[in-house]
Amino acid sequence: MHAQLNILKLAAAAAALSFAAGASAQNAPIKIGFMLPYSGTYASLGSMIEDGFKLFVAEQGGKLAGRELQYFKVDDESEPSKATDNVNKLIKRDQVDVLVGTVHSGVALSMAKVAKDTGTLLIIPNAGADAITGPMCAKNIFRSSFSNWQPAYAMGKVAGERRHKKAMTITWNYAAGTESAKGFKDGFEKGGGKVTQDLLLPFPQVEFQALLTQIAAQKPDAVYAFFAGAGAVKFVKDYVAAGLNKTIPLYGPGFLTDGTLEAQGAAAQGIVTTLHYADNLNTPRDNAFRLAFAKAYKTNADVYAVQGYDAAQMLSAGLKAAGGNIKAMDKIVAGISTMTVDSPRGKFKLSKAHNPVQDMYLRVAKGNLNEYKGIAVKALPDPGVGCKM
Ligand code: PHB
Repeated sequence: MHAQLNILKLAAAAAALSFAAGASAQNAPIKIGFMLPYSGTYASLGSMIEDGFKLFVAEQGGKLAGRELQYFKVDDESEPSKATDNVNKLIKRDQVDVLVGTVHSGVALSMAKVAKDTGTLLIIPNAGADAITGPMCAKNIFRSSFSNWQPAYAMGKVAGERRHKKAMTITWNYAAGTESAKGFKDGFEKGGGKVTQDLLLPFPQVEFQALLTQIAAQKPDAVYAFFAGAGAVKFVKDYVAAGLNKTIPLYGPGFLTDGTLEAQGAAAQGIVTTLHYADNLNTPRDNAFRLAFAKAYKTNADVYAVQGYDAAQMLSAGLKAAGGNIKAMDKIVAGISTMTVDSPRGKFKLSKAHNPVQDMYLRVAKGNLNEYKGIAVKALPDPGVGCKM
């Protein structure tokens, strides 16, 4: 009898202990690992993403689904050869619950592989690598941004509608560049145009002169360029300095002029691009976001800030669906997969492969704004070829 009582007491104590452990796991902050470029040609993109993410969190009173957050940061330097080590620093050393990153497609491909192997929740706030929401898709991997194909296809379609016949593409030789050029070609050739040559240089080189000379010699009707960040600033200025803009219109996905107009100055004026964001959408949702962002950071929001903000919204919805329990992966996945993201860009849902299905806007650079000119393609899904979940 006495022994039985002791066993009961023991069981009660054990239950209380395990309840306390569960409660403390619920009270401990959720660990967020930012793996972003904080140096190099994409440095400004990385900080805009982080700022956007933190703005959404601040708007929720500093918590998501009632949970405190703790941040860990790694500068990935947009360097694919260091990517696996860098992501493991966050997962193994810092033991983060969630990965948020990155900008560069080559780095993101390695992140996605580790996330898939370890089952860690990964929200990609930029990198467009088509494979991540294609053959590499996974239930715990989401994108708040775009696939490289999406804005590129829209630009190709518009260039075709403008009755250009022959185009050349120019970009960095890595996944984002080559997939962007391919997306443009898909859209352009569907409309009867022809891409006559793809020019490439290694990332993140900015010695464009020899390639600009080739463009001048071949005289295509249009040029399509994928560059971003500091590289985009230099390319647009060099294109104008070479006098090419006088005879050969320059097009690109909106990254060519997003977050860069101040630095590009006169050289960027009038450049036509396509993207899932523009600076004067003039919706109540976007106006409120831009005002809050400008107040918090003393600078204008750009597409990268929007993607960071939406990554936080997606995490928030997933956590809410799981009652704040970051370990309840199935509930988190279900919550994010079925949500409507109330983005400053406009509301969107995710495809089966977890990529935004979104409008592609036509924009023209004027002053410091990429002005909205209309919808180039409505609710464009990425084809998501090869995704089996
Ligand atoms: C990418 O590497 O996927 C990438 C980088 C910068 C951008 C867009 C895409 O602005």
